[in-house]
Amino acid sequence: LRTAVEQGRALHRRAAELFFRCLREDTRARQAREYLSRRGLSDTVTVAFGLGYSPPGWDFLTERLVREGYAPEELEQFGLIVPRQGADGYYDRFRNRIMFPIFDAQGRPVAFGGRVLDDEIPKYLNSPETPLYKKGQHLYGLHKAGPAIREKGIAILVEGYMDVIACHQHDIPQAVASLGTAMTPEQGRLLLRYAPRVLICYDADRAGIEATVKAGEILTRLGAQIQVLTLPDGKDPDEFLQKHGASSFWQMADNAPAFFSFCYSRVASQYDLTTVAGKVAAVRELAPQLLIIPSAIEQEANIQWLAREIRLSEAAIMEELRGLSRNTK
Ligand code: UTP
Ligand code: MN
Ligand code: MN
Ligand code: MN
Ligand code: MN
Repeated sequence: LRTAVEQGRALHRRAAELFFRCLREDTRARQAREYLSRRGLSDTVTVAFGLGYSPPGWDFLTERLVREGYAPEELEQFGLIVPRQGADGYYDRFRNRIMFPIFDAQGRPVAFGGRVLDDEIPKYLNSPETPLYKKGQHLYGLHKAGPAIREKGIAILVEGYMDVIACHQHDIPQAVASLGTAMTPEQGRLLLRYAPRVLICYDADRAGIEATVKAGEILTRLGAQIQVLTLPDGKDPDEFLQKHGASSFWQMADNAPAFFSFCYSRVASQYDLTTVAGKVAAVRELAPQLLIIPSAIEQEANIQWLAREIRLSEAAIMEELRGLSRNTK
């Protein structure tokens, strides 16, 4: 007797295979194939990430998998099909979408993300939480990136499916995505099992920058060494790599500031640091980022750096921090 989880794995393996075959062979997938080549994806990387296609229509998966002996209830439990409203039967959750299998760290498909071929909403439809898949516990691409992250001692954290795949295509195999713009502490802990350093390279738009601060704080609390790469003109890594290539990416990565320095630049642009009031406000705003650094030595190094940058004594900054941490305890 197979457990629900084992059964779910078999189901995802089979579904991924059907989507994969559909993308490569089905006449209905012509536009999907064209879409991927328009976006510059190589065949190699499309295969490596097991990309597929769910055709239009309501029962591509339902019909095949039920015929193969899977119970509809089971398909529903794993989020692949949805019960019809006010009628019997089910329909496929993913229709007319490019399918991205989401793999666990061992490389087994445990969920899917499906992208539309135009600018319909939602752009990506993802599997719901299931016995196999808890959002915020997986990192997209980790099964491929893991060895490279270990070898290089640093991970590159990006936002999305296409960013990870573009990185791989451009020989940057140490990229993983938090999927969406919010990274969780679980994802942080998972990532830091592979390397102590992280280069955050989220989209250079407003949402991406806000998410960078959040992810940076989570990773700081976990003791990581973090740098932030902000790409020009609001681009994401996929767009940047397709346009400028990997050597430009690495040039920018070489100059990526440490997370604390990135936070300082943001604050420095908000206040007039030639005035005492501006300095006080800036230190207060940066205090949380200093207080969450678990290592006393690193905390001190950052305070020293800030003192020089903002032209205050370390003692004055320390005093300000002590006051703030007392008030928040
Ligand atoms: P983005 O909006 O930055 O999309 O969302 P993208 O990755 O650049 O996608 P392309 O290049 O337009 O194809 C970043 C990530 O957020 C999640 C996806 O994981 C996406 O890759 N997301 C975004 C969703 O789950 N649903 C959405 O509707 C949008
Ligand atoms: Mn984005
Ligand atoms: Mn993109
Ligand atoms: Mn993006
Ligand atoms: Mn290229």
